[in-house]
Amino acid sequence: MDGNLSANDISHIVDADRAHVWHHLTQHKPFETGEPRIIIEGKGMRVWDQKGKEYLDAVSGGVWTVNVGYGRESIANAVRDQLIKLPYFAGSAGSVPGALFAEKLISKMPGMSRVYQTNSGSEANEKAFKMVRQISHKRYGGKKYKILYRERDYHGSTLATMSAGGQDERNAQYGPFAPGFVRVPHCMEYRAQWDLTGEAYAAASVKAIEEVILAEGADTIGALCLEPVTAGGGVIPAPEGYWPLIGELCRKYDILLHIDEVVCGVGRTGTEWFGYQHYGVEPDFVTMAKGVASGYAAIACCVTNERVFEMFKDDTTDPLNYFRDISTFGGCTAGPAAALECFRIIEDENLLENTTKMGARMVANLWELAEHHKVIGDVRGLGLFCGAELVSDRATKEPMDEKLVAQVVAECGAMGVIIGATNRSIPGFNNTLCFSPALISTEDDIDQICETVGKALGKVFG
Ligand SMILES: Cc1ncc(COP(=O)(O)O)c(C=O)c1O
Repeated sequence: MDGNLSANDISHIVDADRAHVWHHLTQHKPFETGEPRIIIEGKGMRVWDQKGKEYLDAVSGGVWTVNVGYGRESIANAVRDQLIKLPYFAGSAGSVPGALFAEKLISKMPGMSRVYQTNSGSEANEKAFKMVRQISHKRYGGKKYKILYRERDYHGSTLATMSAGGQDERNAQYGPFAPGFVRVPHCMEYRAQWDLTGEAYAAASVKAIEEVILAEGADTIGALCLEPVTAGGGVIPAPEGYWPLIGELCRKYDILLHIDEVVCGVGRTGTEWFGYQHYGVEPDFVTMAKGVASGYAAIACCVTNERVFEMFKDDTTDPLNYFRDISTFGGCTAGPAAALECFRIIEDENLLENTTKMGARMVANLWELAEHHKVIGDVRGLGLFCGAELVSDRATKEPMDEKLVAQVVAECGAMGVIIGATNRSIPGFNNTLCFSPALISTEDDIDQICETVGKALGKVFG
């Protein structure tokens, strides 16, 4: 840390925070006697708090966002230069970085063609939901309006996205929700609903979705919205064979496929730019946010294929036949300027390749830890996006008490490594440790994270 804040400055900042800041996802009672954590500075994989304590950040800014790491001057310079030239103009007009970034993004997404810029993942998902509804009104007499979402998936914090929320504890006390959202079963093999494994389990999971479609009436279903790897619901990659069947199902019933890449997008899963690209599935909508500009500026996108786009311009006699939507901050130019530079960094530094290698190392390290710590029931992951599910009994898979899971996270923090855990997500299942270090992670970083987790498990469980 460069020390340009004095002890007096810091104590004033802490007082101001305790007096006035409402932290996200936080119960504030403990701050009446203790201090909130304030992150002052970051460089590469590391951040420093108000006490000068250094942490290795294994969750890229807490919520899998700062994918290219902290302290990137080239991104700051790109944003600065753009802000001086033009900070903003409403998205009804184009901008230089907006056009260049859309071109870059689409070059990474064969089959897709249009980028609608917004400023959060929730908002990007709502844009897709609105498009589905408008398509239903224009082409299906308003009947094909329902949106299917999956148990354990999350699509955002607004009321419409929570209506598509598969995490009951997260949704508790915020209802009633919007009509027209229908839940389908999860595909988590570790907690399988049927006595099947592998491709047979995948087929049963997709069959279960088909049963929901038939029960609701296929002519009422507009879209199916899925995370490529469920994130906050437990870090759950789908079983082998799941995605091609999902593609077939959508084609069979004329259902638009919406892939929520808010977490997985832009390299997080390694090798490919987007999670869905591992599986050869062809989406109609892809939404993305966190890694798009690595948190250096707020930008999210709802990307569609040309088939969807065409439906919003093919009837010039209808004054309503265009997407009548605006996102004020979707016109900010800092977002695409930062995103362009992030994409350059990912390409020039071969970060997709690094993510694959380091992700494999992390999964292997976590399985090795499982040999010594019986509380690790399962390890899952794709790229630098990994989870370790803690159980109190491996045979019955009884989920570990969430207070003990939180203690593991706290012990890691005390030893200077910030990790995450599923939190207020699925009732009784807040038991998965989450890891999403930046795509620049080195072998030493991965080993340090896993060694620290091993020590923390030892402290909490013996
Ligand atoms: C899969 C997924 N979709 C959507 C969102 C919502 O994004 P935002 O918080 O930017 O609104 C999140 C946030 O964590 C997410 O994990």
